[in-house]
Amino acid sequence: MSGNQLVIFDTTLRDGEQSPGASMTRDEKIRIARQLEKLRVDVIEAGFPAASNGDFEAVRAVAQVIKDSTVCGLARAAENDIRRAADALKDAASGRIHVFLATSPIHMEKKLRMTPDQVVERAVQSVTLARSLRDDIEFSPEDAGRSEIDFLCRILEQVIAAGARTINIPDTVGYNVPDQFGRLIRTLIERIPNSDQAVWSVHCHNDLGLAVANSLSAVMNGARQIECTVNGLGERAGNASLEEVVMAVRTRRDFFQCDTRIDTTQIVAASKLVSNITGFPVQPNKAIVGANAFAHESGIHQDGVLKNRETYEIMRAEDVGWTANKLVLGKLSGRNAFRQRLRDLGIEPDSEEAVNAAFARFKDLADRKTEIFDEDLHMLVAADAAAAEQEHFKLVSMRVQSETGETPSADVVVVAGTAEQRARAGGSGQVDAAFKAIESIADSGAELQLFSVNSITSGTDAQGEVTVRLKKEGRIVNGAGADTDIVVASAKAYINALNKLHANLQRAHPQV
Ligand code: KIV
Ligand code: ZN
Repeated sequence: MSGNQLVIFDTTLRDGEQSPGASMTRDEKIRIARQLEKLRVDVIEAGFPAASNGDFEAVRAVAQVIKDSTVCGLARAAENDIRRAADALKDAASGRIHVFLATSPIHMEKKLRMTPDQVVERAVQSVTLARSLRDDIEFSPEDAGRSEIDFLCRILEQVIAAGARTINIPDTVGYNVPDQFGRLIRTLIERIPNSDQAVWSVHCHNDLGLAVANSLSAVMNGARQIECTVNGLGERAGNASLEEVVMAVRTRRDFFQCDTRIDTTQIVAASKLVSNITGFPVQPNKAIVGANAFAHESGIHQDGVLKNRETYEIMRAEDVGWTANKLVLGKLSGRNAFRQRLRDLGIEPDSEEAVNAAFARFKDLADRKTEIFDEDLHMLVAADAAAAEQEHFKLVSMRVQSETGETPSADVVVVAGTAEQRARAGGSGQVDAAFKAIESIADSGAELQLFSVNSITSGTDAQGEVTVRLKKEGRIVNGAGADTDIVVASAKAYINALNKLHANLQRAHPQV
């Protein structure tokens, strides 16, 4: 790796998944991993294998299909975790074990109940064990942003000597500010005698909205790997956002004097896929991937852009994957035009059957909607892939009624397991009635925490994208659904969330 290559380490599938409600199935992780590979991410952190059997299987499955990115598994500094991570990565073309152990006084004393000497000893033992199982080892002193510098220098020198090849400095609680964080990285590199034997990495959380700024400040001070997530997904306020980091460095290569391998034209597709799978919508004014990120509303701006786009644009929308030609297909478009459009959008369904299934759904949609936009196609293919997964509940049909002065009602037919069941319920509106009817079949007892509707494109015939968040016994799941009829989209989203609850993916949290 040359000194001006910035390694992009994506942790959407691990830290991103730690956002309440963002847990993903094995197949969802594989779909996102494939998109990250297309994006040319260097390292994909696929999960925390010791957390649960589901996580182990997901990391193993990702390791088996990904060939052009390194696949990484997280492990606490404990023998069982490290061996589980190594097992999950057995089939990886290139695999990395990421070992972490807290180093801040508060974490060592209150959480680990270990002395600093014990922490150093455990870190060295763990890295030595990991290195005996794989060559590519990363070590993170958790809560480094609040750790003492002398202690960090001592422990990091020893884990490098034990074989760690990447040293990752996390600002676990998002407490640091850019100038301070940059200085921390520079000091560590300057003071640790064997620092040149490791790649220096950073992992910043966004509690103060500074994750990207802190990461970039670290790059200015010698860091050559950034850990980040698509759409900035992650614990609490999230992690540094991949798209912002990558486009900052690409747009201001003159300033940062380094660059990534990322194929930026795949950014929007990655953002949409992650948002669709997790049910976390992207705010319209989000940099790079928000719907308004390249929209010039004011007359002065529009006039300037028409005369010369560089008057107000520092990046081109098409360079991050927004397509200029938004109107795409209609009712009469054939299979070839459909397939070509998918290719133009960087969407490659896994098989001929997947193309056929998506085409059938496209025809169905075109019957109900005169113009089909790129956004509709993204949604269509995502819905198909989701439907291909194991589902316990399936919506067969529904009928809703409402009339001024009358109580709205819904009749639903749902397959639960193998049995088809019918239910009728009334509610304060059609969506409320539909949810009550479905719940009377599912009997989940879950609490509805969020219901949100977004229009995917403009016009009253647009597809509505619905997100539903359910909570049961401390578990939170998000469900997503799309349809031109928002009551149907809502029912699909509710059923999607019920399926996730039903899958009952229990997992441990790495930092607890
Ligand atoms: O935020 C953090 O400290 C982490 C570590 C496991 C790297 O996610
Ligand atoms: Zn983290």
